[in-house]
Amino acid sequence: MKKTVREAIIAGNWKMNKTPSETKALISEMKPLVSGADCKVVLCVPFVDIDAALNASAGSNIEIGAENCHFEKSGAFTGEVSPVMLKEMGVKYVIIGHSERRQYFGETDVTVNKRLKNALEEDLKVILCVGETLEQREQGITAELVAMQTKIALFDVSKEAAKNVIIAYEPVWAIGTGKTATSDQAEEVCAIIRDVIADIYDSDTAEGMTIQYGGSMNAKNADELLSKVNVDGGLIGGASLKAEDFSIIVKAASK
Ligand code: 13P
Repeated sequence: MKKTVREAIIAGNWKMNKTPSETKALISEMKPLVSGADCKVVLCVPFVDIDAALNASAGSNIEIGAENCHFEKSGAFTGEVSPVMLKEMGVKYVIIGHSERRQYFGETDVTVNKRLKNALEEDLKVILCVGETLEQREQGITAELVAMQTKIALFDVSKEAAKNVIIAYEPVWAIGTGKTATSDQAEEVCAIIRDVIADIYDSDTAEGMTIQYGGSMNAKNADELLSKVNVDGGLIGGASLKAEDFSIIVKAASK
């Protein structure tokens, strides 16, 4: 991490876990454990848990995010949630383009771009996920793939608006598998993404952008991953469902 020029952010992605009452209990347990953090602490939770999460985190250093949002402000889109709704609730962050959305719900680079722009228009901070599958890594196209995902996602996004974008490099093969990228692999791809940002905008924008690593980051490997200069935090799945483990990662990012 390079804390002098950019913010370190540890964000949990709860995915489809926890009910509202479980949300209240877990955040109450986490609050004292992360209160001294010297990094941003964010929890992205299911839509139905947002209200409970906002109440439980009130007055603490935990900020609340959503896991997705739609690309229109309102309309006939049964089952969807717009960033206008999230903003009114008090949500500050939203994950866009997670590989599980791409894999199971037909998300494409083009819809990622539309959702991202709509979220930025509502002043939400976007955690944009990019990353290659194992097959793509073995084909040697990781750099091209993450560059393409990043460029399409940020198409038509101004330099000013890009200040509210955080990128999470999440190799699909490392998600939920217990198979973490090595710190060198994480560093290499986060640096590639930073170069892509410099290419789209300029080096100041690239240097200032928070780029996280995600994929089986846990209490044991966080220190090593976060020691890398281009890894500015983490997007944490499984380990964000355990207060103690999550707080150890937050402490690693606070160094
Ligand atoms: P895990 O930490 O469970 O591998 O999940 C990572 C992830 O997908 C975060 O968005």
